[in-house]
Amino acid sequence: MLPRLQNRVPPPAFCPLDKHSGAPIARRLEVTLTDDVLVVHGGTPLQGQIRVRGAKNLISKAMVAALLGETPSRLFDVPRIRDVEVVRGLLELHGVKVTDGADDGELVMDPTNVESASTDEINVHAGSSRIPILFCGPLLHRLGRAFIPDLGGCHIGPRPIDFHIQALREFGAVVDKAPEGMHLSAPNGLHGAKLELPYPSVGATEQVLLTAVRAEGTTELRNAAIEPEIMDLICVLQKMGGIITVHTDRVIEIQGVPKLHGYAHKPIPDRIEAASWAAAALATKGEIEVLGARQADMMTFLNVFRSIGGEFEVTDDRVGRPGVTGVEGGIKFWHPGGDLQPVALETDVHPGFMTDWQQPLVVALTQARGLSIMHETVYEQRLGYTDALNQMGATIQVYRDCLGGTPCRFGRRNFKHSAVIAGPSKLHAADLVIPDLRAGFAHLIAALAAEGTSRVYGVDLINRGYEDFENKLAALGAHVERLS
Ligand code: EPZ
Repeated sequence: MLPRLQNRVPPPAFCPLDKHSGAPIARRLEVTLTDDVLVVHGGTPLQGQIRVRGAKNLISKAMVAALLGETPSRLFDVPRIRDVEVVRGLLELHGVKVTDGADDGELVMDPTNVESASTDEINVHAGSSRIPILFCGPLLHRLGRAFIPDLGGCHIGPRPIDFHIQALREFGAVVDKAPEGMHLSAPNGLHGAKLELPYPSVGATEQVLLTAVRAEGTTELRNAAIEPEIMDLICVLQKMGGIITVHTDRVIEIQGVPKLHGYAHKPIPDRIEAASWAAAALATKGEIEVLGARQADMMTFLNVFRSIGGEFEVTDDRVGRPGVTGVEGGIKFWHPGGDLQPVALETDVHPGFMTDWQQPLVVALTQARGLSIMHETVYEQRLGYTDALNQMGATIQVYRDCLGGTPCRFGRRNFKHSAVIAGPSKLHAADLVIPDLRAGFAHLIAALAAEGTSRVYGVDLINRGYEDFENKLAALGAHVERLS
């Protein structure tokens, strides 16, 4: 067992500060990092099967949608992750009765008695997630007013909410920003609007959907995001009684309806988690079958995975085969041996290469022979985690220029948003502090691929989006233990 180096490490970079005391909000929520350290003995290929459940970035929004119905909703395959707990807490504060259903992972949300919550109660969740911003429309419809605490989420750029506020105002909401958060009201109700997003923002598109679906009249949203999670949210809203048409060229039309009812929904699988495990298989020279992963949502990732030299097999043909019961398919990913190939990539909105796939894949690219390029075009500050990889022996240089593909929004601004990765590099162990969710998982993969024993501080942050990851690591043969 390794000796405890220190009792407290600095809060991770994502941690927001209390405006009044200056103390990290995570500490106010009594989250400390003292027992939050994973010791990783690297160098062993990960091998075996794990399962992914419903997509974090759909589940949290579908939970908010339950507020819009007048009867209970049932959501299946919900992972036990921190973001779900935060949304559950906020729903409960607003009078929604949330219970676990009969099936493992089933959540039942009864919005019959929606009520206002106090600013203080809501503020307990300040800084914990970005999802509270999506409560605006549903609360305005149900209660005529809403209070939204300061948002949290990963520290990967400024992450403004101007598109959200602009859209809400177009619907007729009155938005007042106050030191304690944001107060909204809708004195004349909410009515449909013609909107165009400056950029196809996932959150702003969801904001519009969750508001327009019960607004009076028709809403037309141009330059909408069309991620699979958004299409699945549209499916949820349609099940509730919504009338939503997805036209070509990123145009979504929503005909408002006065009433919605509850839904029963099995969400799409988590394609970000699936890709993270795929990258882990490649970086550790292993083989991981990700049960539940769906090819249709991951085509862009799979093309890149194959171009680098990784191999995969879609195993969902087992499902429904005569005589085969109790077997679930997915995608099996493996490193076939030999050199990996470098690649020039840029992240983009769907159907492009997801920004959330970038960090784990970069770890695998440190093992490719030659120069790879990663141009991050969705967030301006999402390459900071590469410093830690360099400390572990990687050779990654970050640039302010748009390298590789087309110039992006950040080209003439002062953000280091392109990376050149030279490989292959032998990674060695290090002490790492997890900066945010996806970068955190990337650090973990690097520690698993490296020779020697690393200490990874702040691993509980990974629970925000990766269910039960320590048991999954154990199932894959990783040598990890909590520092005690
Ligand atoms: C969602 O964030 C996801 N989060 C992110 O996943 C994901 O990386 C992102 O979409 C892109 O796919 C959730 O679903 C909870 P955006 P979101 O609005 O909705 C700018 C993870 O690890 N923008 O599409 O917040 C923004 O700054 C997380 O699971 C504005 O300028 O992302 C960014 O540059 C991380 N003004 C770009 O748009 C606005 O009002 C895309 O952001 C809104 C966004």
